[in-house]
Amino acid sequence: MKQKFDIGKYLIPVNRPKIFTEDKLNVKKCLDTGWISSSGYFVEKFEKDFSKINKRKYGVSVTNGTSALELALRCLDLKKNEEVIIPSFTIISSLLCIVRLGLKPVLVDSDLKEWNMTLSEITKKITKNTKAIILTHIYGFPIDVDPILKLTKKKKIVVIEDAAEMIGQKYKKKICGSIGKISTFSFYANKNITTGEGGMILTNNKKIYLKAKSLKNLSFGSKDNRFNHLDFGYNMRMTNMQAAVGCGQIKNLKWIVKRKKEIGQIYYKNLGKNKNIYIQPPKNKNGENIYWVVGIILKNHKKDVVMRLLRKNLIETRSFFYPMHMQTIAKKKKLFKKKDRCINSEFLYKNGFYLPSGLGITKREIKVVCIKLLKILN
Ligand SMILES: Cc1ncc(COP(=O)(O)O)c(C=O)c1O
Repeated sequence: MKQKFDIGKYLIPVNRPKIFTEDKLNVKKCLDTGWISSSGYFVEKFEKDFSKINKRKYGVSVTNGTSALELALRCLDLKKNEEVIIPSFTIISSLLCIVRLGLKPVLVDSDLKEWNMTLSEITKKITKNTKAIILTHIYGFPIDVDPILKLTKKKKIVVIEDAAEMIGQKYKKKICGSIGKISTFSFYANKNITTGEGGMILTNNKKIYLKAKSLKNLSFGSKDNRFNHLDFGYNMRMTNMQAAVGCGQIKNLKWIVKRKKEIGQIYYKNLGKNKNIYIQPPKNKNGENIYWVVGIILKNHKKDVVMRLLRKNLIETRSFFYPMHMQTIAKKKKLFKKKDRCINSEFLYKNGFYLPSGLGITKREIKVVCIKLLKILN
């Protein structure tokens, strides 16, 4: 079939999601039957199916990955100023919920090759006041969790796993999303499974499950008096229409994971040997790279210049995360001290960005991105 568009005449977006026929048919069912808010068949099914693929007992759907993190942390009932460890190199969501709940964020630095938190950095930051850690897998490889879990068990530190970027990923034989007391997910358009906006927490703990279910729905009272609320809850309800999309997506998870890896591997084949670029390999000792996004670190060029030139060539890219200790709001509120500086995270931000890597990208588009990038760098 003739190509519909000429590459080079339209923008190759950093993310083009993949929407399946079943997703659309499911949404139509919601619209046709009027089940468009947060009650309905698909919400329950999505929670059940998503728990099952992650080998967890309970799932609570929410509005996004940021609310999933806040709900998870709230369910731990920590006391004011108790410490929660997070990576500096991540999205701001985990810092936000720690601050909002009156807890103390403690930052750890990331590894330069795998871009994840490491045991040695975590060990340095543990104090008597450390009560929880958010293990956030970043971009492609899972964190090396086994030694960290050993340590947290010994120190009685509760683990929340932020698996937003790792849907369908494995750490050795473990499923990412099945680790720790609670795991959290996002279903934003660029995630491996999307519901447009959306999130989920998973747990095997019934008490946490019931608490999360109540808190996310305004902590409504008993049947006798629904409007006598039991706690200061949230409205974090996912709609039946969003869950309907999620149910379609789950059915295609095998294909999604395969395609994600394929996209990353094509980029690696084309860029891996270039002296000006570091790109993660397809495998490490713990398993395969899922390439949620295909990140690169520039060795000899300025990131802003290269990103601008790519944009001129109609190729959209996205910067790596801006470390938490560098955030304007964190400085204004004096959240961190000089000693909290995370040098590797700064390096990753300064030199890293990611290439178009959404599920909807074509092989031809990847080739065009590589050719243009190499031309700019050489
Ligand atoms: C690791 C991680 N956690 C949490 C989030 C927040 O998810 P959301 O955008 O759905 O709030 C993201 C978003 O990209 C993320 O990458």
